[in-house]
Amino acid sequence: MILQFRNISVAYGDGGPSLTGFTLDVAAGEIVALVGESGSGKTTAIRTAIGLLPGGGEVVDGDILFNGKSLLTLSSKEWQALRGRQMSMIFQDSGAMLNPIRRIGSQFVEYIRAHQSVQKQEAWELGRVMLERMGLPHSETIMNSYTFQLSGGMRQRVGIAMAMVFQPRILLADEPTSALDVTTQSQIIRQMLELRGKYGTAILLVTHNLGVAAYMADRIIVMKDGRIVEQGTRESLLHQPAASYTRDLLEAVPSMRGERYV
Ligand SMILES: Nc1ncnc2c1ncn2[C@@H]1O[C@H](COP(=O)(O)OP(=O)(O)O)[C@@H](O)[C@H]1O
Ligand SMILES: [Mg+2]
Repeated sequence: MILQFRNISVAYGDGGPSLTGFTLDVAAGEIVALVGESGSGKTTAIRTAIGLLPGGGEVVDGDILFNGKSLLTLSSKEWQALRGRQMSMIFQDSGAMLNPIRRIGSQFVEYIRAHQSVQKQEAWELGRVMLERMGLPHSETIMNSYTFQLSGGMRQRVGIAMAMVFQPRILLADEPTSALDVTTQSQIIRQMLELRGKYGTAILLVTHNLGVAAYMADRIIVMKDGRIVEQGTRESLLHQPAASYTRDLLEAVPSMRGERYV
């Protein structure tokens, strides 16, 4: 197992727990989707895994292991070695993380060299090749562009390319395609699946879109009010949902060409 949540509970400030008794194992190369309505604790769960809980969020119970080692006791130096290289994260709008007044290439080079001691030219080439793998054919042009010159889908591809450049063991993806139109969304999803196939990267995917989960995930976890309501393989969950809440979510999935996603 690459990532193991063991009975994790998280609270923000003095409030009650926002995530309660969360237990989940993610195997190497596996894609697991967390689905559920807004506020159900999906983001909290994956941010716990990368040690980046916002606003006073704290793990109040349980443990979380990466490669069998607890993440709760890592020093900041150990986190630095882990983040970006072995575990990385992408967000709904990766472009927002990029500096608008600097070219993509120089930021990509800087990012790579912050994690690995390589020459600038080599870093440039690593970055450029990764952009191509994310389906950006004019990679040299993109490297020389500013974020405002790119579409949302292109910016998101740049973000995923940066997250994947070191071929991490696991990618944490928080609504990675939610801000995009349906066509771009499905292209990016296919590219993420290709990257998983190529590098064996596990993906822990957060989405409120059960269609996306159905298309991408090996396993689906349904969350509500900070707890796991139901979980199972994609097939079992979609075809034999046990919880009425899961059935409600399924009802809300729009059908494509008269058929559901799966
Ligand atoms: N920065 C924060 N400060 C205080 N409470 C938060 C914060 N982020 C999340 N929460 C609490 O955690 C709950 C779950 O939020 P979140 O993990 O963002 O859910 P989701 O990603 O499923 O929409 C929220 O309902 C809220 O009560
Ligand atoms: Mg969220």
